[in-house]
Amino acid sequence: MCGIVCYVGKKQAKPILLDGLKQLEYRGYDSAGVAVQQGSDIDCYRSVGKIAELERKLNGLEINGTTGIAHTRWATHGEPTEENAHPHSDQDENVFVIHNGIIENYHMLKKKLEKQGIKFRSETDTEVLAQLIGLNYEGSLNEAVRKTMSQVEGTFGVAVIHKDVPDEIVIARRGSPLIIGVSEDGHFAASDVSAMVRYTNKVVHLEENELATLTADGFSMSTAQAKPIERSMETVEWRIEDAELDGFPHFMLKEIYEQPETIKNALRGRLEPGEGVPKLGGIMPVWDTLKECRHLVIVACGTSYYAGCVGRYLFEKLTEIDVEVELASEFRYRKLNFPPNTFILALSQSGETADTLAALREAKRKGASLLGVVNVVGSSISRETEAGVYNHAGPEIGVASTKIFTSQLAILTLMALLLGRHQNLSLTEGVEAIRALQALPDQIKTVLSQANHIEAVAEQYYKCGNWLFLGRKYNYPIALEGALKLKEISYIHAEGYPAGEMKHGPIALINPDMPTVAVVPRDDMYEKMISNIQEIKSRRGPVIAIATQGDEKIREIADEVIEIPETLQYLNPILSVVPCQLLAYYCASFLGRDIDKPRNLAKSVTVE
Ligand code: AGP
Repeated sequence: MCGIVCYVGKKQAKPILLDGLKQLEYRGYDSAGVAVQQGSDIDCYRSVGKIAELERKLNGLEINGTTGIAHTRWATHGEPTEENAHPHSDQDENVFVIHNGIIENYHMLKKKLEKQGIKFRSETDTEVLAQLIGLNYEGSLNEAVRKTMSQVEGTFGVAVIHKDVPDEIVIARRGSPLIIGVSEDGHFAASDVSAMVRYTNKVVHLEENELATLTADGFSMSTAQAKPIERSMETVEWRIEDAELDGFPHFMLKEIYEQPETIKNALRGRLEPGEGVPKLGGIMPVWDTLKECRHLVIVACGTSYYAGCVGRYLFEKLTEIDVEVELASEFRYRKLNFPPNTFILALSQSGETADTLAALREAKRKGASLLGVVNVVGSSISRETEAGVYNHAGPEIGVASTKIFTSQLAILTLMALLLGRHQNLSLTEGVEAIRALQALPDQIKTVLSQANHIEAVAEQYYKCGNWLFLGRKYNYPIALEGALKLKEISYIHAEGYPAGEMKHGPIALINPDMPTVAVVPRDDMYEKMISNIQEIKSRRGPVIAIATQGDEKIREIADEVIEIPETLQYLNPILSVVPCQLLAYYCASFLGRDIDKPRNLAKSVTVE
């Protein structure tokens, strides 16, 4: 997704803006640009490709100014070219705009402006915003932006500067997040906190259809109807070192290795071992209705959806609640007839995924209560749900989600355990669950200690063009997630399948060049999984088994075995996904892929 970072204050803007853009690289982009203002002069530079390209262009140039806006663009309208990169200006080059989102009526507006003689230089919807703001400007930049907001349809997070108003930035939000950062050296605005966490952890969130005017000394907020707003400042937990590699070659590998810690973070302060009952303060605001809930719909996208698929098994195992799991992008088009006291649970790392947000809003319209499990504090989903649980996992920079997936599973287990212990789950079962959860961080470390072996397995099979992942019950979603991990960072085609479906078609695919990753821990599904593996082996398909430590039988059948420690059946996914993450990582590494920023992908998909 596109990234926005702005600064107005006492310091030179250029280095702050370039540093902020680098912190936003993980969102995925294909061009970048910056505009720095000093008095009535605005210097604007844009480039295609990485931030380093823009830096090369700026090197040696005297670019002074303590006000500026900068942008990384993920192309939606128009190719990734310098002409289409942001900032965009009006035809008189008075106004400079950067924009996240999509202006849905830009084509009509562009035609109308061209009829008025306006000459466009780019193919983008953003340039329409710049031209309109330029035409609407009559001395107040905030007024000009506000008027423009009333003329456009679609989504935007915008930041605007004007030659006539030095040391002032106007920002506005509709559907694309913007956060204000407050420091003694000035004020920031950014699409996410990582762009400014080096300078401040004091933030104020802009809500839907709100604007703000930032200056070196302060900021003012208002609604699109010019009604002034006061909003309290929040402190974010993240630190800049969270968004640095710390010696790892890639953020993805760092975040895979962070999982023992992030599981601890997910559990911290939330366990009552003696009572076998978790404490989840974040859902207490709705507890009186939630504890009576008998119908839960989990909505999410991508990896978060697969976490929801495990969640369904968890809730069915530990509670009396009927659970559906829906792809958010499909859910919102369904005829929704919720039984009374239905809760919708949104899972989202970013808290900004447009499809998930849209699904929540649709469910709210239909009378459901909304819960969220989110990593980014203060994100849109966390603000639009009535209650929820934060992952407290720190920023996940790698586009491929790893530590958040296991954190989501841990939190879903806590939620199911809490509800279950108020239904039919016994004290013994509750205590057993909590003990098993507490053992997970060290058990993940045991899996991670096999990294060299897993790398060797990846080296043997990374040239295979098609992979199959198989699992049953709790581990079927792990087959889906394992396939997604491999696809999205190595670009190898992979399919995750319920192992029971093999005989209904996919077994026709088996061949010596197609490895199958079989998730086969010692659980109720073990014997059936062994049969699946034998069927594959009898057709000379290579099998990489993810199996329970000490399983000698699997060693006689599978070509490769990656071991996971023994735990409760419904906690196996938190361990069995780690070998899948590492297999994907090492295959991508052998193939020389851009692991943290895979082609065409963005970390937070804030467009539908
Ligand atoms: C994860 O590896 C993917 N990059 C992607 O599927 C992601 O899980 C999905 O876009 C949902 O994102 P969210 O958790 O921020 O809502």
